[in-house]
Amino acid sequence: METRFVQLQGDEHDAAVFAEAGRIIRAGGLVAFPTETVYGLGGNGLDPEASRKIYAAKGRPSDNPLILHIAERDELPPLVQEVPETAGKLMDAFWPGPLTLIFRKRPLVPKETTGGLDTVAVRMPSHPGAAAFIRAAGVPIAAPSANLSGRPSPTTAEHVREDLNGRIDMILDGGESEIGLESTIVDVTGGTPTVLRPGYIGRERLEALLGEIRIDPAVLEKPSADLRPKAPGMKYRHYAPKAPLTLVKGEAAAVSAYITEQCLTAPGRAGILCSLESACGYAAACGKAGKPILLYPLGEQDDEEAAAHRLFAALRQADEDGAAVLFAEACEEKDLGAAIMNRLKKAAAYHIIEV
Ligand code: TXA
Ligand code: MG
Repeated sequence: METRFVQLQGDEHDAAVFAEAGRIIRAGGLVAFPTETVYGLGGNGLDPEASRKIYAAKGRPSDNPLILHIAERDELPPLVQEVPETAGKLMDAFWPGPLTLIFRKRPLVPKETTGGLDTVAVRMPSHPGAAAFIRAAGVPIAAPSANLSGRPSPTTAEHVREDLNGRIDMILDGGESEIGLESTIVDVTGGTPTVLRPGYIGRERLEALLGEIRIDPAVLEKPSADLRPKAPGMKYRHYAPKAPLTLVKGEAAAVSAYITEQCLTAPGRAGILCSLESACGYAAACGKAGKPILLYPLGEQDDEEAAAHRLFAALRQADEDGAAVLFAEACEEKDLGAAIMNRLKKAAAYHIIEV
């Protein structure tokens, strides 16, 4: 299949592009599109065949449910059994935006889309291109992140092309994703609202709005046979770069000293995901020893927005550069830092060193 690659221009010329993308969706095809979090791989969420195609294109296990994307709030009621009060509060505060809510589904939503579950994940993205595309399609868009299963989520259309060229009908290029990490997922189907996946909207903001919330234990610890994540996707190996990644935690100077020593003795070229400040130190120490290294500065120390924005692209770049081993500096697990650490732990397959 030939994949059409179309640049969005953010003006009236895009109308024809969205109309064509909408036709593709209604005919059962697949279109990758930008959102404020990461790029999505969209298909008609009410068509079981389109959902099967999404799983096939990504190489994704079919028990891992898809998120339905809508453009207006009134598209929600036909999809779900009820809209609990907590959901209403969350939607008022954070929709459109990087928040996905889990509801009990209505029969209209096929089991193929929900991986066999009786619940459905719904999100209303704030990206204007995403909203225009969903409106043009006229159906809820089922969309996982537009990467091959296991690879880092795509934050540019070029990342999507790397993974899915020839496997889908169209890629809409809307530039770099603003946030760079996937949406926060909150289950509102019963009892205390529960975070199934941390994201841009952190625990602190949810608590400020709702009072008590829970974090699914599988978010914090390594999922295992006894600790099954409530979001099925959280159990899979994820975001994994080709090189083994070690996440290093501790006081800044000790972390730098440990990573420097490891890089100096690494058999091949080591890569480091770090702050801009510490990148200079690594470059100096390894340069002095004549040891080439690969540096992936994610932004200034404590600039979590920058780190979130660059993380997935850095992991992909490390693959491309052929890094033999990788190290990442841990950040504080608070607000957006919790989401960054969640992705880093998965990318590191939970290989974490405390120094
Ligand atoms: O930001 C995002 O959420 C992006 C953009 C494209 O919207 N999408 C995304 O989709 O990250 P995906 O498929 O890569 O991740 C969806 C996650 C998976 O972990 C899946 O298991 C979980 O949502 N999920 C979907 N439906 C669910 C349900 N009914 N119950 C629990 N978890 C669910
Ligand atoms: Mg994904």
